[in-house]
Amino acid sequence: MVWDKLRAHNAATADRRFETLLDDTRAADFSATAHDMRLDYAKTNIDAAARALLCDLLDQTGVAAKREAMFTGAAINDTEGRAVLHTALRNLDGGPVMVDGGDVMPGIMDTLARMEDFAAAVRDGGFLGQGGAITDVVNIGIGGSDLGPAMAVKALAPYHNGPRCHFVSNVDPADIAGVLRDCDPATTLVIVASKTFTTIETMTNARTAQAWMAQSVTDTGAQFVALSTAADKTAAFGIDPARVFGFADWVGGRYSLWGPIGLSLMIAIGPDAFRAFLRGAQAMDVHFRAAPWHENLPALLAAVGIWHNQICGYPTRAVLPYDNNLSRLPAYLQQLEMESNGKGVAMDGSALPVASGPVVWGEPGTNGQHAFYQLIHQGTGVVPCEFLVAARGHEDDLHHQHQLLVANCLAQSEALMRGRSLDEARAKIADKFTGDELDRQARHRVFTGNRPSVTIAYPQLTPFVLGQIIALYEHRVFVEGVVLGLNSYDQWGVELGKELATALQPVIEGSKGLEGKDASTAALVGFLRQNGV
Ligand code: F6P
Repeated sequence: MVWDKLRAHNAATADRRFETLLDDTRAADFSATAHDMRLDYAKTNIDAAARALLCDLLDQTGVAAKREAMFTGAAINDTEGRAVLHTALRNLDGGPVMVDGGDVMPGIMDTLARMEDFAAAVRDGGFLGQGGAITDVVNIGIGGSDLGPAMAVKALAPYHNGPRCHFVSNVDPADIAGVLRDCDPATTLVIVASKTFTTIETMTNARTAQAWMAQSVTDTGAQFVALSTAADKTAAFGIDPARVFGFADWVGGRYSLWGPIGLSLMIAIGPDAFRAFLRGAQAMDVHFRAAPWHENLPALLAAVGIWHNQICGYPTRAVLPYDNNLSRLPAYLQQLEMESNGKGVAMDGSALPVASGPVVWGEPGTNGQHAFYQLIHQGTGVVPCEFLVAARGHEDDLHHQHQLLVANCLAQSEALMRGRSLDEARAKIADKFTGDELDRQARHRVFTGNRPSVTIAYPQLTPFVLGQIIALYEHRVFVEGVVLGLNSYDQWGVELGKELATALQPVIEGSKGLEGKDASTAALVGFLRQNGV
């Protein structure tokens, strides 16, 4: 069985220093390129035999067939009986996509055109607030209805030439209060972004925004927009259907940035740049669908992930963008990867026989270097790292500073691989210490090295490239999910907490007693009550 072969191969090779694999051909052989984006996985212990086995694993678990099923609208999200077609949202000129016998592309293109008209009007004054041109856009949403647009607006800050954009997600009133404090209701557009239009955080914040708006404008609803699949609920909330941008339930929340949920991004950067963003993702879709595994960036990134998590047993992976504008990418990927593949049950309902996907975390470099990299370099566990880096920033006059950033990025992957031996550490401090103290001090300065990383490099973080990056990770999650044999497209694990929060709300408010609550929860409620909750 290929899993066993992979484990055996790892057992046989785990002790070697993978640095020794780096001959003249490895850098080219263990990297792949798609539309000027390069994935380098030469700094891992994956050799040609391991890669061949990983490709076998993809074949034997049916990734290719499932990939076609996804792109062609089959109901691969089978616990919810839905197709998974976020790729259709960026299928700008890719032909029909059929769901239940009907082509979904005309509806998608129609909604895209409506979004473009509206975004252009907000940007050029064709759509006015009751106090004049829109100066601020407040997107109220959570999870996929927040993280995608918030991440992308930040990522594309150099292209932001529309009104200011703010993102409110948390039900903590500090979030919305902090945002609205800086906005004028008469010139603010509120976007209520919720696939279901039932999410309690979003609906609570939307009502707070409504009340805030009502204090100073006459037509409260006129500056509200809804992005949702639930037209009946947006109407009940009082939003004019002309300002409702709908999408189908086969767009998962964490995959929804490409359609209406991306409206704040489109208003920020303009329709043309938004189309370039879609084109980047579409280019990655085309590549993912056609390239053989050993040239296929999403498949390779998934193979590396499976190798490190499933075969080597490393429980986390760090995403480290050396691109400050990607500062929200790790948070975005936490939802994308952990809500998709953090499952304990296989498609057939049996217990998952392998570990669920890894914990994903990270921060931009160089900041992380001065925080948690200590553990990455010298901790007892291994954290596979994923570096992202652009050849050029957008600050032409500060290019030398960008070069320093790039040097830091490459230095980190080199340091993780090479490490520093005890002899090297001793030599470094031989002028300061002698004898046993030299030895003791040197041991603290040893880096074991042999710590794997991949690097994703690209010319510049343009809208096109951002589209490529996100689609790359989406398809990586897809491949990993198929190989693990789970459904990447439901999220039942978020339900229990929601139900219990709803039941606890009257208890916290004091209209219901503590009967039936466990002793710990009851004691915490008691403490918080004593302190004014
Ligand atoms: O609770 C999890 C979740 O359903 C996510 O999957 C989703 O992105 C988020 O809540 C927000 O959902 P909605 O867009 O329906 O408000």
